[in-house]
Amino acid sequence: MHRNAIFRYLLRTQAQRSFSTSCQANSKVAVLGAAGGIGQPLSLLLKQSPLVSHLALYDIVHTPGVAADLSHIESRAQVTGHVGAEQLNDALKGCDVVVIPAGVPRKPGMTRDDLFNTNASIVRDLCEAAAKACPEALVGVVTNPVNSTVPIAAEVYKKLGVYQPNKMFGVTTLDVVRANTFVAEAKGNDVSATSVPVIGGHAGITIIPLLSQATPAVSFSDEEREKLTVRIQNAGTEVVEAKAGAGSATLSMAYAAARFTFSLLEALSGKEGVIECAFVDSDQTEAAFFANPILLGKNGMEKNLGFGTLSDYEKKLVQAAMAELQGSIKKGIEFANK
Ligand SMILES: NC(=O)c1ccc[n+]([C@@H]2O[C@H](COP(=O)([O-])OP(=O)(O)OC[C@H]3O[C@@H](n4cnc5c(N)ncnc54)[C@H](O)[C@@H]3O)[C@@H](O)[C@H]2O)c1
Repeated sequence: MHRNAIFRYLLRTQAQRSFSTSCQANSKVAVLGAAGGIGQPLSLLLKQSPLVSHLALYDIVHTPGVAADLSHIESRAQVTGHVGAEQLNDALKGCDVVVIPAGVPRKPGMTRDDLFNTNASIVRDLCEAAAKACPEALVGVVTNPVNSTVPIAAEVYKKLGVYQPNKMFGVTTLDVVRANTFVAEAKGNDVSATSVPVIGGHAGITIIPLLSQATPAVSFSDEEREKLTVRIQNAGTEVVEAKAGAGSATLSMAYAAARFTFSLLEALSGKEGVIECAFVDSDQTEAAFFANPILLGKNGMEKNLGFGTLSDYEKKLVQAAMAELQGSIKKGIEFANK
């Protein structure tokens, strides 16, 4: 697909395409970790969509209350609450899309990799249940460190013989959302008409905004470009520090995960030309997983659109990210096969 076509679509995504509100579909979506800082506002946003007919909320605590609360909203989706491991299968049965924001968030001073010890086993166990209960569902992994949790998820599905690389996604949409916001602010442009692809992974230097491919085209001095790139890479930490121990991005992340889930649902229900950036099983670089724009369809990723021509500066960013990215992927694969 021509790059301009990609950006035209991404712009429509941002402008809350009319399709989302006019089209009905019969989709069951499960949110695993639905009582959390991301899970609750994400569930609220999903409850508003006519694309969702059944919203299943799973967590180890509090989901009966969250589900009762959301179920009073005058929108189409039927909401069910599921609490504790023995109710997980019911939440997952018949799902079309599973979104996973379960796990601990960062506190000031922590990297995403510091979450590995706690979150790796949470993602492994939830994916094992999903692979058994709804092997055909599309899976969006939000839980950090995404660079490792997505390879863990893939390994779990492989072990159970149901891995379909086109159906497994690391949700990196928040990086795109932030890049759009910061670039539009820096240039005084309309953010709803701004689109910046972000490639690589979802941690520090592995987050690579392609400012050279921004729409509308923008130019920066070397110093401005460096500053903006570093800000996008560290934007999560900006929120972690501002929240001063109360967690990481939740509201902007819920928005981003909802945007990504709506794109999956639109593609599932037959919409053509749906494009998002996501961290997927990839042959675009030497890393086994890599984020860049992908075309979505009825079976998940229909086509990996790659990342086009990079500027020399962006090429260096990709080179600088490779060792960390590959290390995080290897760590996830080794954990899953332990
Ligand atoms: N991909 C991204 O861009 C991005 C952005 C921000 C945060 N995150 C990550 O999302 C995750 C969640 O963040 P949060 O702020 O919502 O955290 P939170 O602590 O507020 O919520 C996490 C929820 O997960 C639940 N949980 C824990 N173990 C579970 C299990 N085994 N099964 C089901 N639920 C379980 C908890 O009970 C809690 O309700 C963190 O790992 C965070 O780092 C990712």
